[in-house]
Amino acid sequence: MVGYTNKAHSAALAPSKRAPQRIGSPSSTDLARIQDNISLPNLHFEIDDYCSDWVYPPDHFDYIHVRRLYGTVGDWPEFYKECYEYEKTPHPSLASFDCIADSMPYSHLAPGAFLEHTETSVTLMSDDDSIPHGSAFQQSNALAIVCGQRFGKPMAIQNRIKGWITEAGFEDVVEEVFKWPLGDWPADPKLKDIGRWNATLWNLGIEGWSLRLLTQTHGWTADEVRRWNKDIRNQITARKSHGYQLV
Ligand SMILES: C[S@@+](CC[C@H](N)C(=O)[O-])C[C@H]1O[C@@H](n2cnc3c(N)ncnc32)[C@H](O)[C@@H]1O
Repeated sequence: MVGYTNKAHSAALAPSKRAPQRIGSPSSTDLARIQDNISLPNLHFEIDDYCSDWVYPPDHFDYIHVRRLYGTVGDWPEFYKECYEYEKTPHPSLASFDCIADSMPYSHLAPGAFLEHTETSVTLMSDDDSIPHGSAFQQSNALAIVCGQRFGKPMAIQNRIKGWITEAGFEDVVEEVFKWPLGDWPADPKLKDIGRWNATLWNLGIEGWSLRLLTQTHGWTADEVRRWNKDIRNQITARKSHGYQLV
């Protein structure tokens, strides 16, 4: 699992029936040990920067799972190359592997292995024009994209992933796209339920997503960001905007 944060997420995947049997001890990575109490059976945690050269030996993984890493990677084609086919000078820690030569491409995925990337769009859309011009929701669309550009790590990647993965050389690339409502506005019970989960994610996450980015890339004050966060939360609660993201 690349980019961890979430115990429930890792717990759901660690004993996964989808995981091929060869995975004895899946690893989950992040920049720091940011969660307490992350002891889980069948999972170990590693501190690793996935934007640096990967230090895993060839054919190491049967399954690489990536979720919601928009805004954290500057060069996605390079990221997928690390997963699939890697040609540049190997990291020194791999020098002891006889099978690695400078000129020979190798892969961090074993033959027949899988990469799965689940990503959300950062822009909110609606099918009924219910996101008012100038509203916090509408503002968030442009802000997210410009923040990514100024920060050097794109936010709007959800609709580019299939192309990048295909260009990296993966075969049998399958893309499924779903709507993920924001808030409990849908009539359909399942969409209402996942919309509530998304509202909780936004309510809890919005300050962390925006405070540093908007102060650093747009020059907003912390108070301005917090006021805007409140506008976003109010718009979610008001249920008048039938916004959704794509997943
Ligand atoms: C938006 S969170 C997504 C977490 C999790 N995958 C999920 O879906 O709930 C992105 C995570 O990636 C981590 N991260 C960002 N850049 C990273 C890097 N270069 N190497 C490793 N982890 C990184 C962050 O610390 C954060 O925990």
